[in-house]
Amino acid sequence: MQASDKDSDDPMPRDNEELKTKKDRYKVLALLGKGGYGAVYSVTRLSDSERFAIKCENANAPRKSLYMDCNVLKGAAQIKSRHFCTVIDQAAVKDRFNFIVMKMIGKNLWDLRMDTPELRFSMGTALKAAAQCLVSIEQLHRFGYLHRDIKPGNFAAGRKETNEHHTIFMLDFGLCREYVKRGEGKVRLQRSSAPFRGTTRYAPLGSMMEMDTARKDDIESWLYMVVEWTSGQLPWHKLKSHDRDKVMQFKKDLRNKPEVQDDFFYDCPKKEFLRILKYVDSLGFYSTPDYKFVYFCIQHAGTANNVKDTDPLDWDASCPFNGPIESPEGCFSKYVSLLKNCEFLKKHRRNM
Ligand SMILES: Nc1ncnc2c1ncn2[C@@H]1O[C@H](COP(=O)(O)OP(=O)(O)O)[C@@H](O)[C@H]1O
Ligand SMILES: [Mg+2]
Repeated sequence: MQASDKDSDDPMPRDNEELKTKKDRYKVLALLGKGGYGAVYSVTRLSDSERFAIKCENANAPRKSLYMDCNVLKGAAQIKSRHFCTVIDQAAVKDRFNFIVMKMIGKNLWDLRMDTPELRFSMGTALKAAAQCLVSIEQLHRFGYLHRDIKPGNFAAGRKETNEHHTIFMLDFGLCREYVKRGEGKVRLQRSSAPFRGTTRYAPLGSMMEMDTARKDDIESWLYMVVEWTSGQLPWHKLKSHDRDKVMQFKKDLRNKPEVQDDFFYDCPKKEFLRILKYVDSLGFYSTPDYKFVYFCIQHAGTANNVKDTDPLDWDASCPFNGPIESPEGCFSKYVSLLKNCEFLKKHRRNM
């Protein structure tokens, strides 16, 4: 096939193509990211030259997920979270693709780590980004969804031009699942098994064992991501998605082999991160995680490593940090008062 034929077969938008919606027209500028059945582009809104991003999905995609991106982002707008992009428009180009128009943000956290000389974030950057991602996970859960694909490519910093480059945004809701029964407000019953979805490297152990996943599992993936930011790599980084069983074995060994733990937590605040792992493993399918407790462990890791609130982020090394410092909603105080005499808490109060 000739290159030109191939280009004309590609249903995705072309550079400079003009896209119409009921509200406005947009000109396509550049490709920002590409997935299996879709792609994200920067665009200019022709009525006022403002920049936006569009996420497109092939009209023939076998598994439609753009509606989920759209629903979740609309839910996020209702709670007015600063960690989600607003959707401002949507339309379809017949027989080619459907798209949503949303706020444009900056580089994703995978690319930002790749920009660092040692391919890892400083402790301060890793912990500040970790705290913001945790807040966004708690918020997503609060309005009823599991993410199920927590990984660095699905978080990005805002743009410098809008002075949001110290704020982290959550992206990509294509694999989200509603975990509460609408109206009843109860967690949906656990399925006896669930096909594996997501990304092998960051997938929670339970989902690799084809178990139905829950809120705790998003936090487990978040921990793998944060460890990778801090230490530069995960012990299973060389294994690919077809080595899923080997990655699963690594994650099992992490729970009971000290040498795997040492490797995993290399250059990380081991005491606090191990406490988070143990806490996540102690939760059940229906548990509401104590996000505040996890946040408290992150804060403690920062204090123990002399991280200051104003320490700059690696991608803006000359400016003091001015992004959000907010703790997630949670039941830490309730948890503490209910479990005043619990051995676990007595012990961690002693240690902290
Ligand atoms: N609103 C946005 N602004 C800027 N870049 C974005 C935006 N949304 C996505 N991207 C970029 O596109 C990439 C792919 O987007 P994502 O929503 O994760 O789609 P996919 O389903 O293809 O993984 C992201 O990693 C990010 O770099
Ligand atoms: Mg993605």
